Amino acid sequence: MKEKISIDEFDGKKFKIRFVEQEDNRKAVLTHYLHNYHNGVKKHYEKEAIQYLKQIVEYKNEEEQLNYVSDVALQQLLFEVENVPFPTPENYTFKFIDLFAGIGGFRLALQNLGGKCVFTSEWDENAKKTYRANFGETPFGDITKQYTKDYIPDDFDVLCAGFPCQAFSIAGKRGGFDDTRGTLFFDVAEIIKKKKPKAIFLENVKGLINHDKGKTLATILNVLRNDLGYYIPEPEIINAKDFGVPQNRERIYIVGFRNDLNINSFSYPKAHNKKVSFKKVKEKKVVPTKYYLSSQYLQTLVNHKQRHKNKGNGFGYAIINDEDISNAIVVGGMGRERNLVIDKRITDFTPTTHIKGEVNREGIRKMTPREWARLQGFPDSFIIPVADASAYRQFGNSVAVPAIQATAEKIINLLNI
Ligand SMILES: C[S@@+](CC[C@H](N)C(=O)[O-])C[C@H]1O[C@@H](n2cnc3c(N)ncnc32)[C@H](O)[C@@H]1O
Repeated sequence: MKEKISIDEFDGKKFKIRFVEQEDNRKAVLTHYLHNYHNGVKKHYEKEAIQYLKQIVEYKNEEEQLNYVSDVALQQLLFEVENVPFPTPENYTFKFIDLFAGIGGFRLALQNLGGKCVFTSEWDENAKKTYRANFGETPFGDITKQYTKDYIPDDFDVLCAGFPCQAFSIAGKRGGFDDTRGTLFFDVAEIIKKKKPKAIFLENVKGLINHDKGKTLATILNVLRNDLGYYIPEPEIINAKDFGVPQNRERIYIVGFRNDLNINSFSYPKAHNKKVSFKKVKEKKVVPTKYYLSSQYLQTLVNHKQRHKNKGNGFGYAIINDEDISNAIVVGGMGRERNLVIDKRITDFTPTTHIKGEVNREGIRKMTPREWARLQGFPDSFIIPVADASAYRQFGNSVAVPAIQATAEKIINLLNI
């Protein structure tokens, strides 16, 4: 059989206009089904997945006058979802779900520890694209919707979520479950309440500590401890630079264990002794026209910094030397200019339309998406299938994989699974 069918058929415009749905979860259902084809979780997605498979085969046959059969299509699609850089470990020892998944930083870390992801949700289309290219699975969409939550299977061990931080409207210092309604934390809490995973692992910006004068964090901890019945040790600020990547990125980690497991102590991982510098992640060859600054633009940055020099640290750009470590990579504003590097080796090139005017003589350039990937601990086999603008956003939003992995390892060890 020469014909090939692919999950991408679902993206075909002609296919799409046949169905008008509030949110198209078909790709997510089918890839989750295929990914769990060899285990019990498959059942959870089966009925719908078979129906979607039929739809897509019928469509393909009509469009291309074929006589394609579902069984062959199924085999091809199975191969497609499994033939990715980061497939599910063969003999997995625990199951987890990946909420606010982004490009799968948590997933990579937990798979490295022998975990199998049984549900993932992320609503950004570009992030979904990166996720599928690397893990073979398309995430479900908006997690605030009941129809998305209905797809979450029972019986997974760990819930992972790096949810955006929002204030709760509460009168006192500490709110309860109902006070968090309308926020993304509420959705996470609701899932925990319903599914009761053994452990939870939440990640957030360091600013969560002082957010709304500390009320946001106090409410989160109160809900997890008192309303949901989890043992939650004091959250800890973990810095990516302590776990083998040259990036100064501090994030708050919150872990928890269901009370009936009788786990009542937890220690966060200790910093590695071996520190690495930017040199370790620096790309050897960079397309000059894409990443080097024009001398005019560089001058604008210099002037800008001069004018605002009393505005404190972290304002404007910084030049990261090979022996330094990078500041946290961030999204938006001057995100990409915050960390510049020097590459004196490449000096003789002609400016193109990408660079208005002459390229700066010093060889100052932005970091590349691959360097951002490495700063977050993503191996080079991680596929970047999107344009640079999306790639920067995705890596800037992501977690530092080695720091997540070191913490998750401690969690898994305690769970004895
Ligand atoms: C801070 S990022 C988490 C990144 C992720 N931990 C990673 O390693 O790439 C938060 C993510 O939540 C997603 N998000 C926000 N609201 C959502 C919603 N209602 N449903 C699904 N995803 C959502 C955003 O698109 C964003 O990618």
